[in-house]
Amino acid sequence: MKNFEYFNATRLVFGRGEENRIGELILPKLVENKTVLVVYGGGSVKRSGLLDRVITSLEKNNLKVVEFGGAQANPTMEHVRLGIQLAREENVALVLAVGGGSVIDTAKAIAMGVPYEGDAWDFFACGVMPKTALPVACVLTLPAAGSEQSIRVVISHQGRKLGAGCGVVRPYLSVINPELFFTLPEKQIRAGVIDMMSHIMERYFTQTEGVDFVSGQAEAALRSIMKNGLLVKENPQDYDAWSQIGLAGSFAHNGFYGLGHVEDWACHAMEHELSAWDESITHGEGLAVVTPSWMKHVWKENPARFVRFAKEVMGVDLEGDTEAIVLEGIRRLEQFFINMGAPITLQQLKAEKAPVAMLAERVTAKGPIGNFKKLYASDVLQIYQLAL
Ligand code: NZQ
Ligand code: ZN
Repeated sequence: MKNFEYFNATRLVFGRGEENRIGELILPKLVENKTVLVVYGGGSVKRSGLLDRVITSLEKNNLKVVEFGGAQANPTMEHVRLGIQLAREENVALVLAVGGGSVIDTAKAIAMGVPYEGDAWDFFACGVMPKTALPVACVLTLPAAGSEQSIRVVISHQGRKLGAGCGVVRPYLSVINPELFFTLPEKQIRAGVIDMMSHIMERYFTQTEGVDFVSGQAEAALRSIMKNGLLVKENPQDYDAWSQIGLAGSFAHNGFYGLGHVEDWACHAMEHELSAWDESITHGEGLAVVTPSWMKHVWKENPARFVRFAKEVMGVDLEGDTEAIVLEGIRRLEQFFINMGAPITLQQLKAEKAPVAMLAERVTAKGPIGNFKKLYASDVLQIYQLAL
């Protein structure tokens, strides 16, 4: 195991109705300046009445509300810049995201951008690390990206989709009420379930030895996500199943499953190229397409890890032939994605026309991606082609 430091500053407030006290929860952070930028998306929070309830709670606590809606799925830099401008004009003290990963990432990018003198795209394109940021709080409506507890921010701009982040943008407070997930369409349910699995698998598939404690927790989490993922797909009103998914999604990306590991992240890099190329691609569905192909391409680098995955996560009870065990594990993962209603090929994703050679060059432009196996452009191209 590698040396590590871990500090997770997110206060989680979990359960039914907790969003109704968001005003009192954030009040202690707002001593003199009481202006809050409320960031939301394309309207789901208006239709559900959640936005009204959040604003009522803020106003009841004498907080000044500045609304900033319109964050789109796969959020854009143009929109973030408008948010930064508004936040400066209104002198906001805190950014409150009410939505899913795209809304939270928009809020985080605004929070980083307000105190920064340059253009906020520098954080993504030039590797500038934010030294400070406005505090970010969240009311989560979609368990998927894990942004409500993560240090990451993902923004699209001019055909690129890039990540940035550091501890200063980790939300200091996140409210998770599983009842808010009842209105999610099936596409977002499956995309969320697959995304949170991927956040664990990007860390689980490591060459680092001596990480058994975390590996066992990761296997349990993956089994629980699959079981409860199918339950919420069948019954989107299942509070107990959503509770497991809400908790798992939030912890999947808070750094715990990577403690002491060299992490991988090749599947995320390959998926981000797809959803940057076509903004209508949903991140979790893109992951369902690239992940099994990545597994088939890399498993020989560490067959024992894939045997363990097949047995402990996918329940394969074969003995003997390593290749047969590994491939059965991957087949069962694909079958789970199919059972969730997800695409598992570029064709099913309606991305068979993706310029995969160009995307493979672009994703490796700064060097090979991934760590389980270092992937060069030719590897990435083979993985995309395997997914056709
Ligand atoms: O915009 P509205 O109208 O709110 O509708 C949204 C959106 O259309 C809808 N939705 C959200 N909650 C709902 C709901 N509809 C009905 N009922 C609800 N309760 O769902 C749609 C998708 O929302 P979005 O926020 O885009 O989804 P998600 O949470 O999956 O976030 C995806 C984004 O996060 C990035 C992805 O790349 C993508 O851009 N990621 C961010 C990460 C991070 N910051 O740590 C890590 C991830 O790996 C990921 O890359
Ligand atoms: Zn993800």
